[in-house]
Amino acid sequence: MQKICVRQALAGQTGFHTSSDLAPLGHLLPQGEKGLSRRALLASSLALAACGQTEAAPTLAATPLKSIAPFPIGTAAMAGQFDDPAWVDLALTHVSQLTPEWEMKMEYILDRPGRYRWDAPDRIADFCTAHELRLHGHALIWYSQGADQFAGLDRPAFITGFDDYIAAVASRYRGRVVGWDVVNEAVAEDGNGLRDCHWSAVLGQDGYIARAFELAKSADPDAILFLNDYNLENNPTKGATFLRLVERLLKAGVPVGGLGTQSHLDIEIPAGQTTAFIREAAAFGLPIHVSELDASLRSDGRIDTRSRQTRLNQQTARVAELAEAFVALPAAQRYGFTVWGLRDTDSWLRRDARDDGKDSPLLFDASGRPNPMFGAVSAALS
Ligand code: XIL
Repeated sequence: MQKICVRQALAGQTGFHTSSDLAPLGHLLPQGEKGLSRRALLASSLALAACGQTEAAPTLAATPLKSIAPFPIGTAAMAGQFDDPAWVDLALTHVSQLTPEWEMKMEYILDRPGRYRWDAPDRIADFCTAHELRLHGHALIWYSQGADQFAGLDRPAFITGFDDYIAAVASRYRGRVVGWDVVNEAVAEDGNGLRDCHWSAVLGQDGYIARAFELAKSADPDAILFLNDYNLENNPTKGATFLRLVERLLKAGVPVGGLGTQSHLDIEIPAGQTTAFIREAAAFGLPIHVSELDASLRSDGRIDTRSRQTRLNQQTARVAELAEAFVALPAAQRYGFTVWGLRDTDSWLRRDARDDGKDSPLLFDASGRPNPMFGAVSAALS
């Protein structure tokens, strides 16, 4: 029962008004890092009390995140998930925004230049309309897709295909998406410079990025246009390179309208590193999107002496830090806080060959019950 209680505790369930009579329970809390925020401890102690006081306490429903967040809470979504009532119930309870996980990407939409497939992305857009959810478009141009579809084209045909694709997709969803990840993962893996790819080979590294933003702006002038990337908190070198790219593009008049940090968090990074990146990114005054949050517990082949509880404590501490840094942004810069899936078993990480079947990188477990990560986010939002 205690274990279930701890899970409920960390799910941010509060039913009490003060923590003073709960302080003695504090020692029951997982020994998080010093960085575990006061709010997370409060949320946990309050809920532990719920368990302590009524052993037969029913499982309290987790407080809907979208009801306590003063900004959109999002999740990645695939059209097939709309046929899973449990997923739909969890999504409509907690989130106010969807990001297509893969069906609005070039790999799904584009067969060959000029030949498109719209069924799934249209279904996702229709689901958002039907349920009054915001839709965030992901992703127009990505280094990892399109090489096959554009293979063998001469330069004029390549450029025409590039331009036509962005125009076709961005105009089709004009007025339906709030924003687009216009260019995804432009910075090199190690953070030293930008990636070389089939797009940069023809149009140049800054060239393809600038062209994509200008084309997207023309096709959908009202969408917020994001540059999106990963490991920006995990790798300060990469974060710095990303921000230098943003500065260069803005100085060149490229219509970058927002910054997306995917936040596939490495739970081993030191406290403070995440906050530092978010603060530096915020200095541009643009909307910030935590666009793909997950926080794997996996060791990925490393000899790992950490207990599962230690990893959960690291995870909740890093996620709490990210959520608190996001909450601290000016309201106009809080575009959205998006997790890359709802339940652990929805995660792309659980479909990865390295999956150990035990990873818990998201807000909810396979049954839709709040994970400790939910409590960390809930406490930070509260
Ligand atoms: C991933 C999806 O989750 C997978 O289902 C798909 O097979 C590959 O792409 N960064 C991104 C996302 O911007 O689009 C990726 O999503 C995860 C990494």
